[in-house]
Amino acid sequence: MKKLIIINGPNLNLLGKREPAIYGSLSFTEFLDEVKDKYTNVQIDYFQSNVEGEIIDKLQEVGFSYDGIILNAAAYTHTSVGIGDAVGAIEAPVVEVHISNTFSREEYRHQSYISANAKGVILGFGLQSYELALQSFL
Ligand code: DQA
Repeated sequence: MKKLIIINGPNLNLLGKREPAIYGSLSFTEFLDEVKDKYTNVQIDYFQSNVEGEIIDKLQEVGFSYDGIILNAAAYTHTSVGIGDAVGAIEAPVVEVHISNTFSREEYRHQSYISANAKGVILGFGLQSYELALQSFL
């Protein structure tokens, strides 16, 4: 069985409540339950943190044993050399995802410290971005 993990960064614990016009009204746990029910042949783990170092620790912890990582580093995408370096340091392929189309938003969201070290990037499809990333590992 393939082992995948979704890692979500800051404020994504508020999905469903946070700016629903941009991020939708479904909570991430509701979405995750649906995805797990649909892809029963894959192990899908989940980790969320609002703390940069905890995200780096998790990437290091899973990065040499998992088959794939789906990473939405949220605001840290645009600021964190450390998370970008961690993605480059590990062996597991990382797909960077974003719910919104960051290129149609503020200029500071156009920069990503993750993309150069990612296997690919999927953005702008709402929560479906995660499912598309998952499918890329199957
Ligand atoms: C986001 C986009 C980021 O710019 C923002 O800081 C987020 C969420 C997205 O999924 O669209 O928190 O990563």
